[in-house]
Order: sequence, then C-alpha cells, then structure tokens
Amino acid sequence: MEREITLRFLAEPTDVNYGGKVHGGAVMKWIDQAGYACAVGWSGQYCVTAYVGGIRFLKPIFVGNIVEVHARLIYTGRSSMHIAVDVSAGDPKVGSFTKTTHCVIVFVSVDSNGNPIPVPVWEPQTDEDHNLQTYAQRLMDLRKGIEQEMSSFL
Ligand SMILES: CC(C)(COP(=O)(O)OP(=O)(O)OC[C@H]1O[C@@H](n2cnc3c(N)ncnc32)[C@H](O)[C@@H]1OP(=O)(O)O)[C@@H](O)C(=O)NCCC(=O)NCCS
Repeated sequence: MEREITLRFLAEPTDVNYGGKVHGGAVMKWIDQAGYACAVGWSGQYCVTAYVGGIRFLKPIFVGNIVEVHARLIYTGRSSMHIAVDVSAGDPKVGSFTKTTHCVIVFVSVDSNGNPIPVPVWEPQTDEDHNLQTYAQRLMDLRKGIEQEMSSFL
C-alpha cells in the first residue's frame, strides 16, 4: 500500500490556453489523475472523485516547464480518502520548482455497482502526519457550511 505518489512530466503545447500559459483545466486534470493514482494505490480498489477542495492558482505554468504533481493521503474515513495535492513547476534550464497550486481532493472507493466500500485505515505516524490529518478534519467541518450555503443550487 503506497501512501503517496509524484507524477513528473513536461507541460506540452496542447496544455496551453489562449494567453500562452497552461490552462486551469489541464492542471485540474493532473490533480485528479495524481489523486486517483494515490487513492487506488492505497485502497487497491477502483475509486471515484467525490469532492475537490477550493483550487487557488498561485502562479502560472508555462509550456516546457517540468511539472511535479505530488499526491499524499492525509485522512481516511470508512470509504473516503482525503488526499492533499501540491503542484509545482519550473524551467528545466533553471532547475528550481515553484509551488503553483495546492488542494485537497476526496476519493471514495466503490464496488462494481458504484456503492462505497471500506478502505484500509491510515494511521498518522509523525507530527506532520497528525497535523495533516487535523487539517483534513478542519476542512471537512468548514465544508459543511459551504455545502449548506450551496445546497439550494445542487
Ligand atoms: C462519491 C459517491 C460514491 C458517494 O456516494 P454517497 O451515496 O454520497 O455515499 P455515502 O453517503 O455513503 O458517502 C460515502 C463517502 O463519501 C463521502 N462524501 C460524500 N459526499 C461528500 C462530499 N461532498 N465531500 C466529501 N466527501 C463526501 C462521505 O463522507 C463518505 O465517506 P466515509 O465513508 O469515509 O465516511 C457518489 O456521490 C458518486 O458516485 N458520485 C459521483 C462520483 C463521480 O462520478 N466522480 C467523477 C467526477 S463527476
């Protein structure tokens, strides 16, 4: 069972928007892919995306940048896995990476009928792990208010 995964690749010309930078949809796809690989790697089961936390695009990514998408499990419920995803990018000629996005994404493990099924429990080991788990739990609490606010539009 792997708790984390890093995808590394070059931002391609097909990822670029009309302004010449990587478009947000491409970044969201990479976040979803890394989160999916992490969730499946942990659970050993097929998983679906249940929720994507507020994504803030901090810096642009340019075509030809090396992109690093790091996904790390930070909380497990019964069937859900909360995964923190950090995206960084940089010019390979320079060699340094800048964080461009962070978000928390929730995957749910499902059976062949799409019903949620239990996932192996993740136990935090280090102080950092405990902080991350608490962070995921605080986000869950905050989400209740957001979901209530948005419920009339669902
Ligand atoms: C994700 C899905 C399986 C959850 O089904 P559900 O009927 O709400 O199931 P439950 O109420 O039993 O919840 C299952 C888990 O999902 C979690 N969950 C449900 N809604 C959530 C939300 N808005 N945010 C975060 N987690 C959520 C629950 O907390 C629960 O976690 P737990 O088992 O660890 O306690 C269902 O909503 C679904 O199939 N959604 C579509 C998924 C999809 O197609 N994704 C691709 C992008 S469109």
